[in-house]
Amino acid sequence: MMATLIFLALFLLGLFLTLRPLWGPKEPFPEPPRREELLKELEVLREEVKNLEGEEKKLALARVVELERALEGWRPPEPRPFNPLPVALALGVVVLLGVGLWRYTLPRLPGETTVTQRAEARELKALQDKAKRTGAVEDLLAWGRRAYELQAFDQAAEAYLEVLKKDPRNVEAVRRVGILLFMSGRTEEAETFLQVAQHADPKAAEGWLFLGNIYFQKGQAQEAIAAWERYLEAGGEARERVEGLIAMAKAQAQGGRDGQTVYQARCAVCHGAEAQGGIGPKLKGNPILKAPEAVKEIVLRGRGQMPAVPLGEEELKALLDYLSRL
Ligand code: HEC
Repeated sequence: MMATLIFLALFLLGLFLTLRPLWGPKEPFPEPPRREELLKELEVLREEVKNLEGEEKKLALARVVELERALEGWRPPEPRPFNPLPVALALGVVVLLGVGLWRYTLPRLPGETTVTQRAEARELKALQDKAKRTGAVEDLLAWGRRAYELQAFDQAAEAYLEVLKKDPRNVEAVRRVGILLFMSGRTEEAETFLQVAQHADPKAAEGWLFLGNIYFQKGQAQEAIAAWERYLEAGGEARERVEGLIAMAKAQAQGGRDGQTVYQARCAVCHGAEAQGGIGPKLKGNPILKAPEAVKEIVLRGRGQMPAVPLGEEELKALLDYLSRL
C-alpha cells in the first residue's frame, strides 16, 4: 500500500516535470509592449507625410526616422534553445516509475505481491498439474511441500489429504494435516494427528512446535513446555521464539489470573506474545481494541479462522482490560 502511494507520488512528479514546459510562458522575452503602437504610428505618419508641406513635413519625416530606429532596435524573440537533458531525465523517471508501478502494484494474480510470487504461483500450478495427472504420492508430496512453503495452505491441505488417501501411514502428511487443522482452528483433531505423527517421527521439529501450541492453548502449560523443549532438541529453527514461549509458559505457570496471563494462555499462540500478529492479525494498536464489546463478541463466538475462546466473566474482564492498555 505504502509502496503504491510512493510510486504514485513519484509518477505524478515525473509527469509534472515532463509536461511543465508546455504550460510555461510561451514567449519568455515578451515583445516591447509599444511595438504595435509604434508600427501604427509609423503607418499613419507615412500617410500624413504625403500630404504635408515645408516645416511640418520635415518634422514628420524626422519622427518617421526616429520611429524606424526605435523599431530597428527590436528583434523578434529568439526561440529558446531546446535542451533535451531535463526532458530525457523526466521521461526516464516516468518510464522507471511506470515499470515500477506495473511490476509491483498493478496486475497480479490473487494473493500475489511481486513478480517473484507470480513465478512461484506458476511453479505451484505446474506441481499441482503434475500431481493431479500422475496421482503419485511422490508428486503429491512435492506439491504439498511447496504449497506449504508458499503458505498456500488450502492447496497444501488438498495435497496432503490426497497423500493420506493413498498412503495413510505417511508421517509427513499426518503431521502437516495436523498443523493445517490447527491453523484452521480444529484443535481437537489437530492434536490427535500431531500426537500420532510425533510418536512416529520425533525428529520432526515443526510437529513439536504446533503440538506445544495446542497444549498451551488448552491450558496444559507443562505439556506445552515439554513439547517445545523437544522442538529445541530436534533442532528446530525458530529457537529464540520457542525459548521465549517456554519462558512465558513457565512464568505463567506461576502467575495469577491477570489479563496478560489470560492473553498469553489463550491468544498469544495466534496473535503473538507481543500481540504483534501471527496466524491471527496484529492486535497491538489495532483500532478494534477501542471497541471492547466487539472484541468480546469475537472472543466468545470466534470469527472466520479464529475459533471461539470460552472464557469466564473475570478472565474476560481482565483480558479486555489488558488489551485496552496495549
Ligand atoms: C487459533 C488461533 C487464534 C486464537 C487462539 C485467537 N485468535 Fe483472534 N484471530 C485469529 C484469526 C485467524 C483472526 C482473523 C479472523 C478473521 O477475521 O477471519 C482473529 C481475529 C481476532 C480479532 C479481530 C481482529 C481484527 O483486526 O479484525 C480480535 C480482536 C481477536 N482475534 C482477538 C483474540 C483474542 C483476545 C484472543 C484470545 C482470547 C484470540 N483472538 C485468540 C486467530 C486466533
